[in-house]
Amino acid sequence: MSDKKIIIAIDGYSSSGKSTMARRLAAEIGYRYIDSGAMYRAVTLYALENGIIASDGSINRPALQKALPKLHIDFMPMTDGSQHTMLNGRDVETEIRQLRVSDNVSPVAAIKEVRTALTDLQRRLGRDKGIVMDGRDIGTTVFPDAELKVFVNASAEMRARRRFLEMNDKGDDVNYEEVLANVVRRDHIDETREESPLRRAADAVDLDNSSMSIDEQNRWLEDQFHKALTRAK
Ligand code: CDP
Repeated sequence: MSDKKIIIAIDGYSSSGKSTMARRLAAEIGYRYIDSGAMYRAVTLYALENGIIASDGSINRPALQKALPKLHIDFMPMTDGSQHTMLNGRDVETEIRQLRVSDNVSPVAAIKEVRTALTDLQRRLGRDKGIVMDGRDIGTTVFPDAELKVFVNASAEMRARRRFLEMNDKGDDVNYEEVLANVVRRDHIDETREESPLRRAADAVDLDNSSMSIDEQNRWLEDQFHKALTRAK
């Protein structure tokens, strides 16, 4: 195999299984995996913990803008091969996945200054290529020249079911209805915001994984990767 490295952008709706497939592919091909959603979640957690988001969900934008340069977000590799999101040196992996953060993240991610700061960070991480990044705007805004772009979708009910089972497994006390409501609400905000809305890039390959197993979707993605690498040579 040549040592040519490419950028792989995986975008799609909330809880569509993007992260699972992106993480696995990266491990298999020796690329770095970056979960851009985790960055938006970390900013949201900071805002919740520092009184920047009020209990009614309203955001103090000037305070958030002022805080942005003080936020240091990165990822720490774990011995089991996973990675944990770090916010100013603190492991926040568990907190950022909780429904409290999910309920507030899309309005935070709609703020222009937040997107500019995180897009810059994401581009820096992809400078040397050899990266798999998942999110909402990776193929459209962050890396419009990515050699492989995938757009993932599945029905809202299927996505909510998967997320509900995942959270239940972790011991989170949530019910299916509230997870579904969160998925539908985030889809709407992500699709209709002004800044980098969730859109399929014109040159993306579609994947509807509603009735695919994790192994099947991974084989599909590996095949796409090899085709993209051949095209890029
Ligand atoms: O829960 P799920 O895995 O679907 O979402 P996530 O990837 O953790 O992203 C959480 C939220 O961050 C999304 O609902 C979007 O509002 C926002 N986001 C974004 O705006 N742009 C990205 N590139 C990634 C996430």
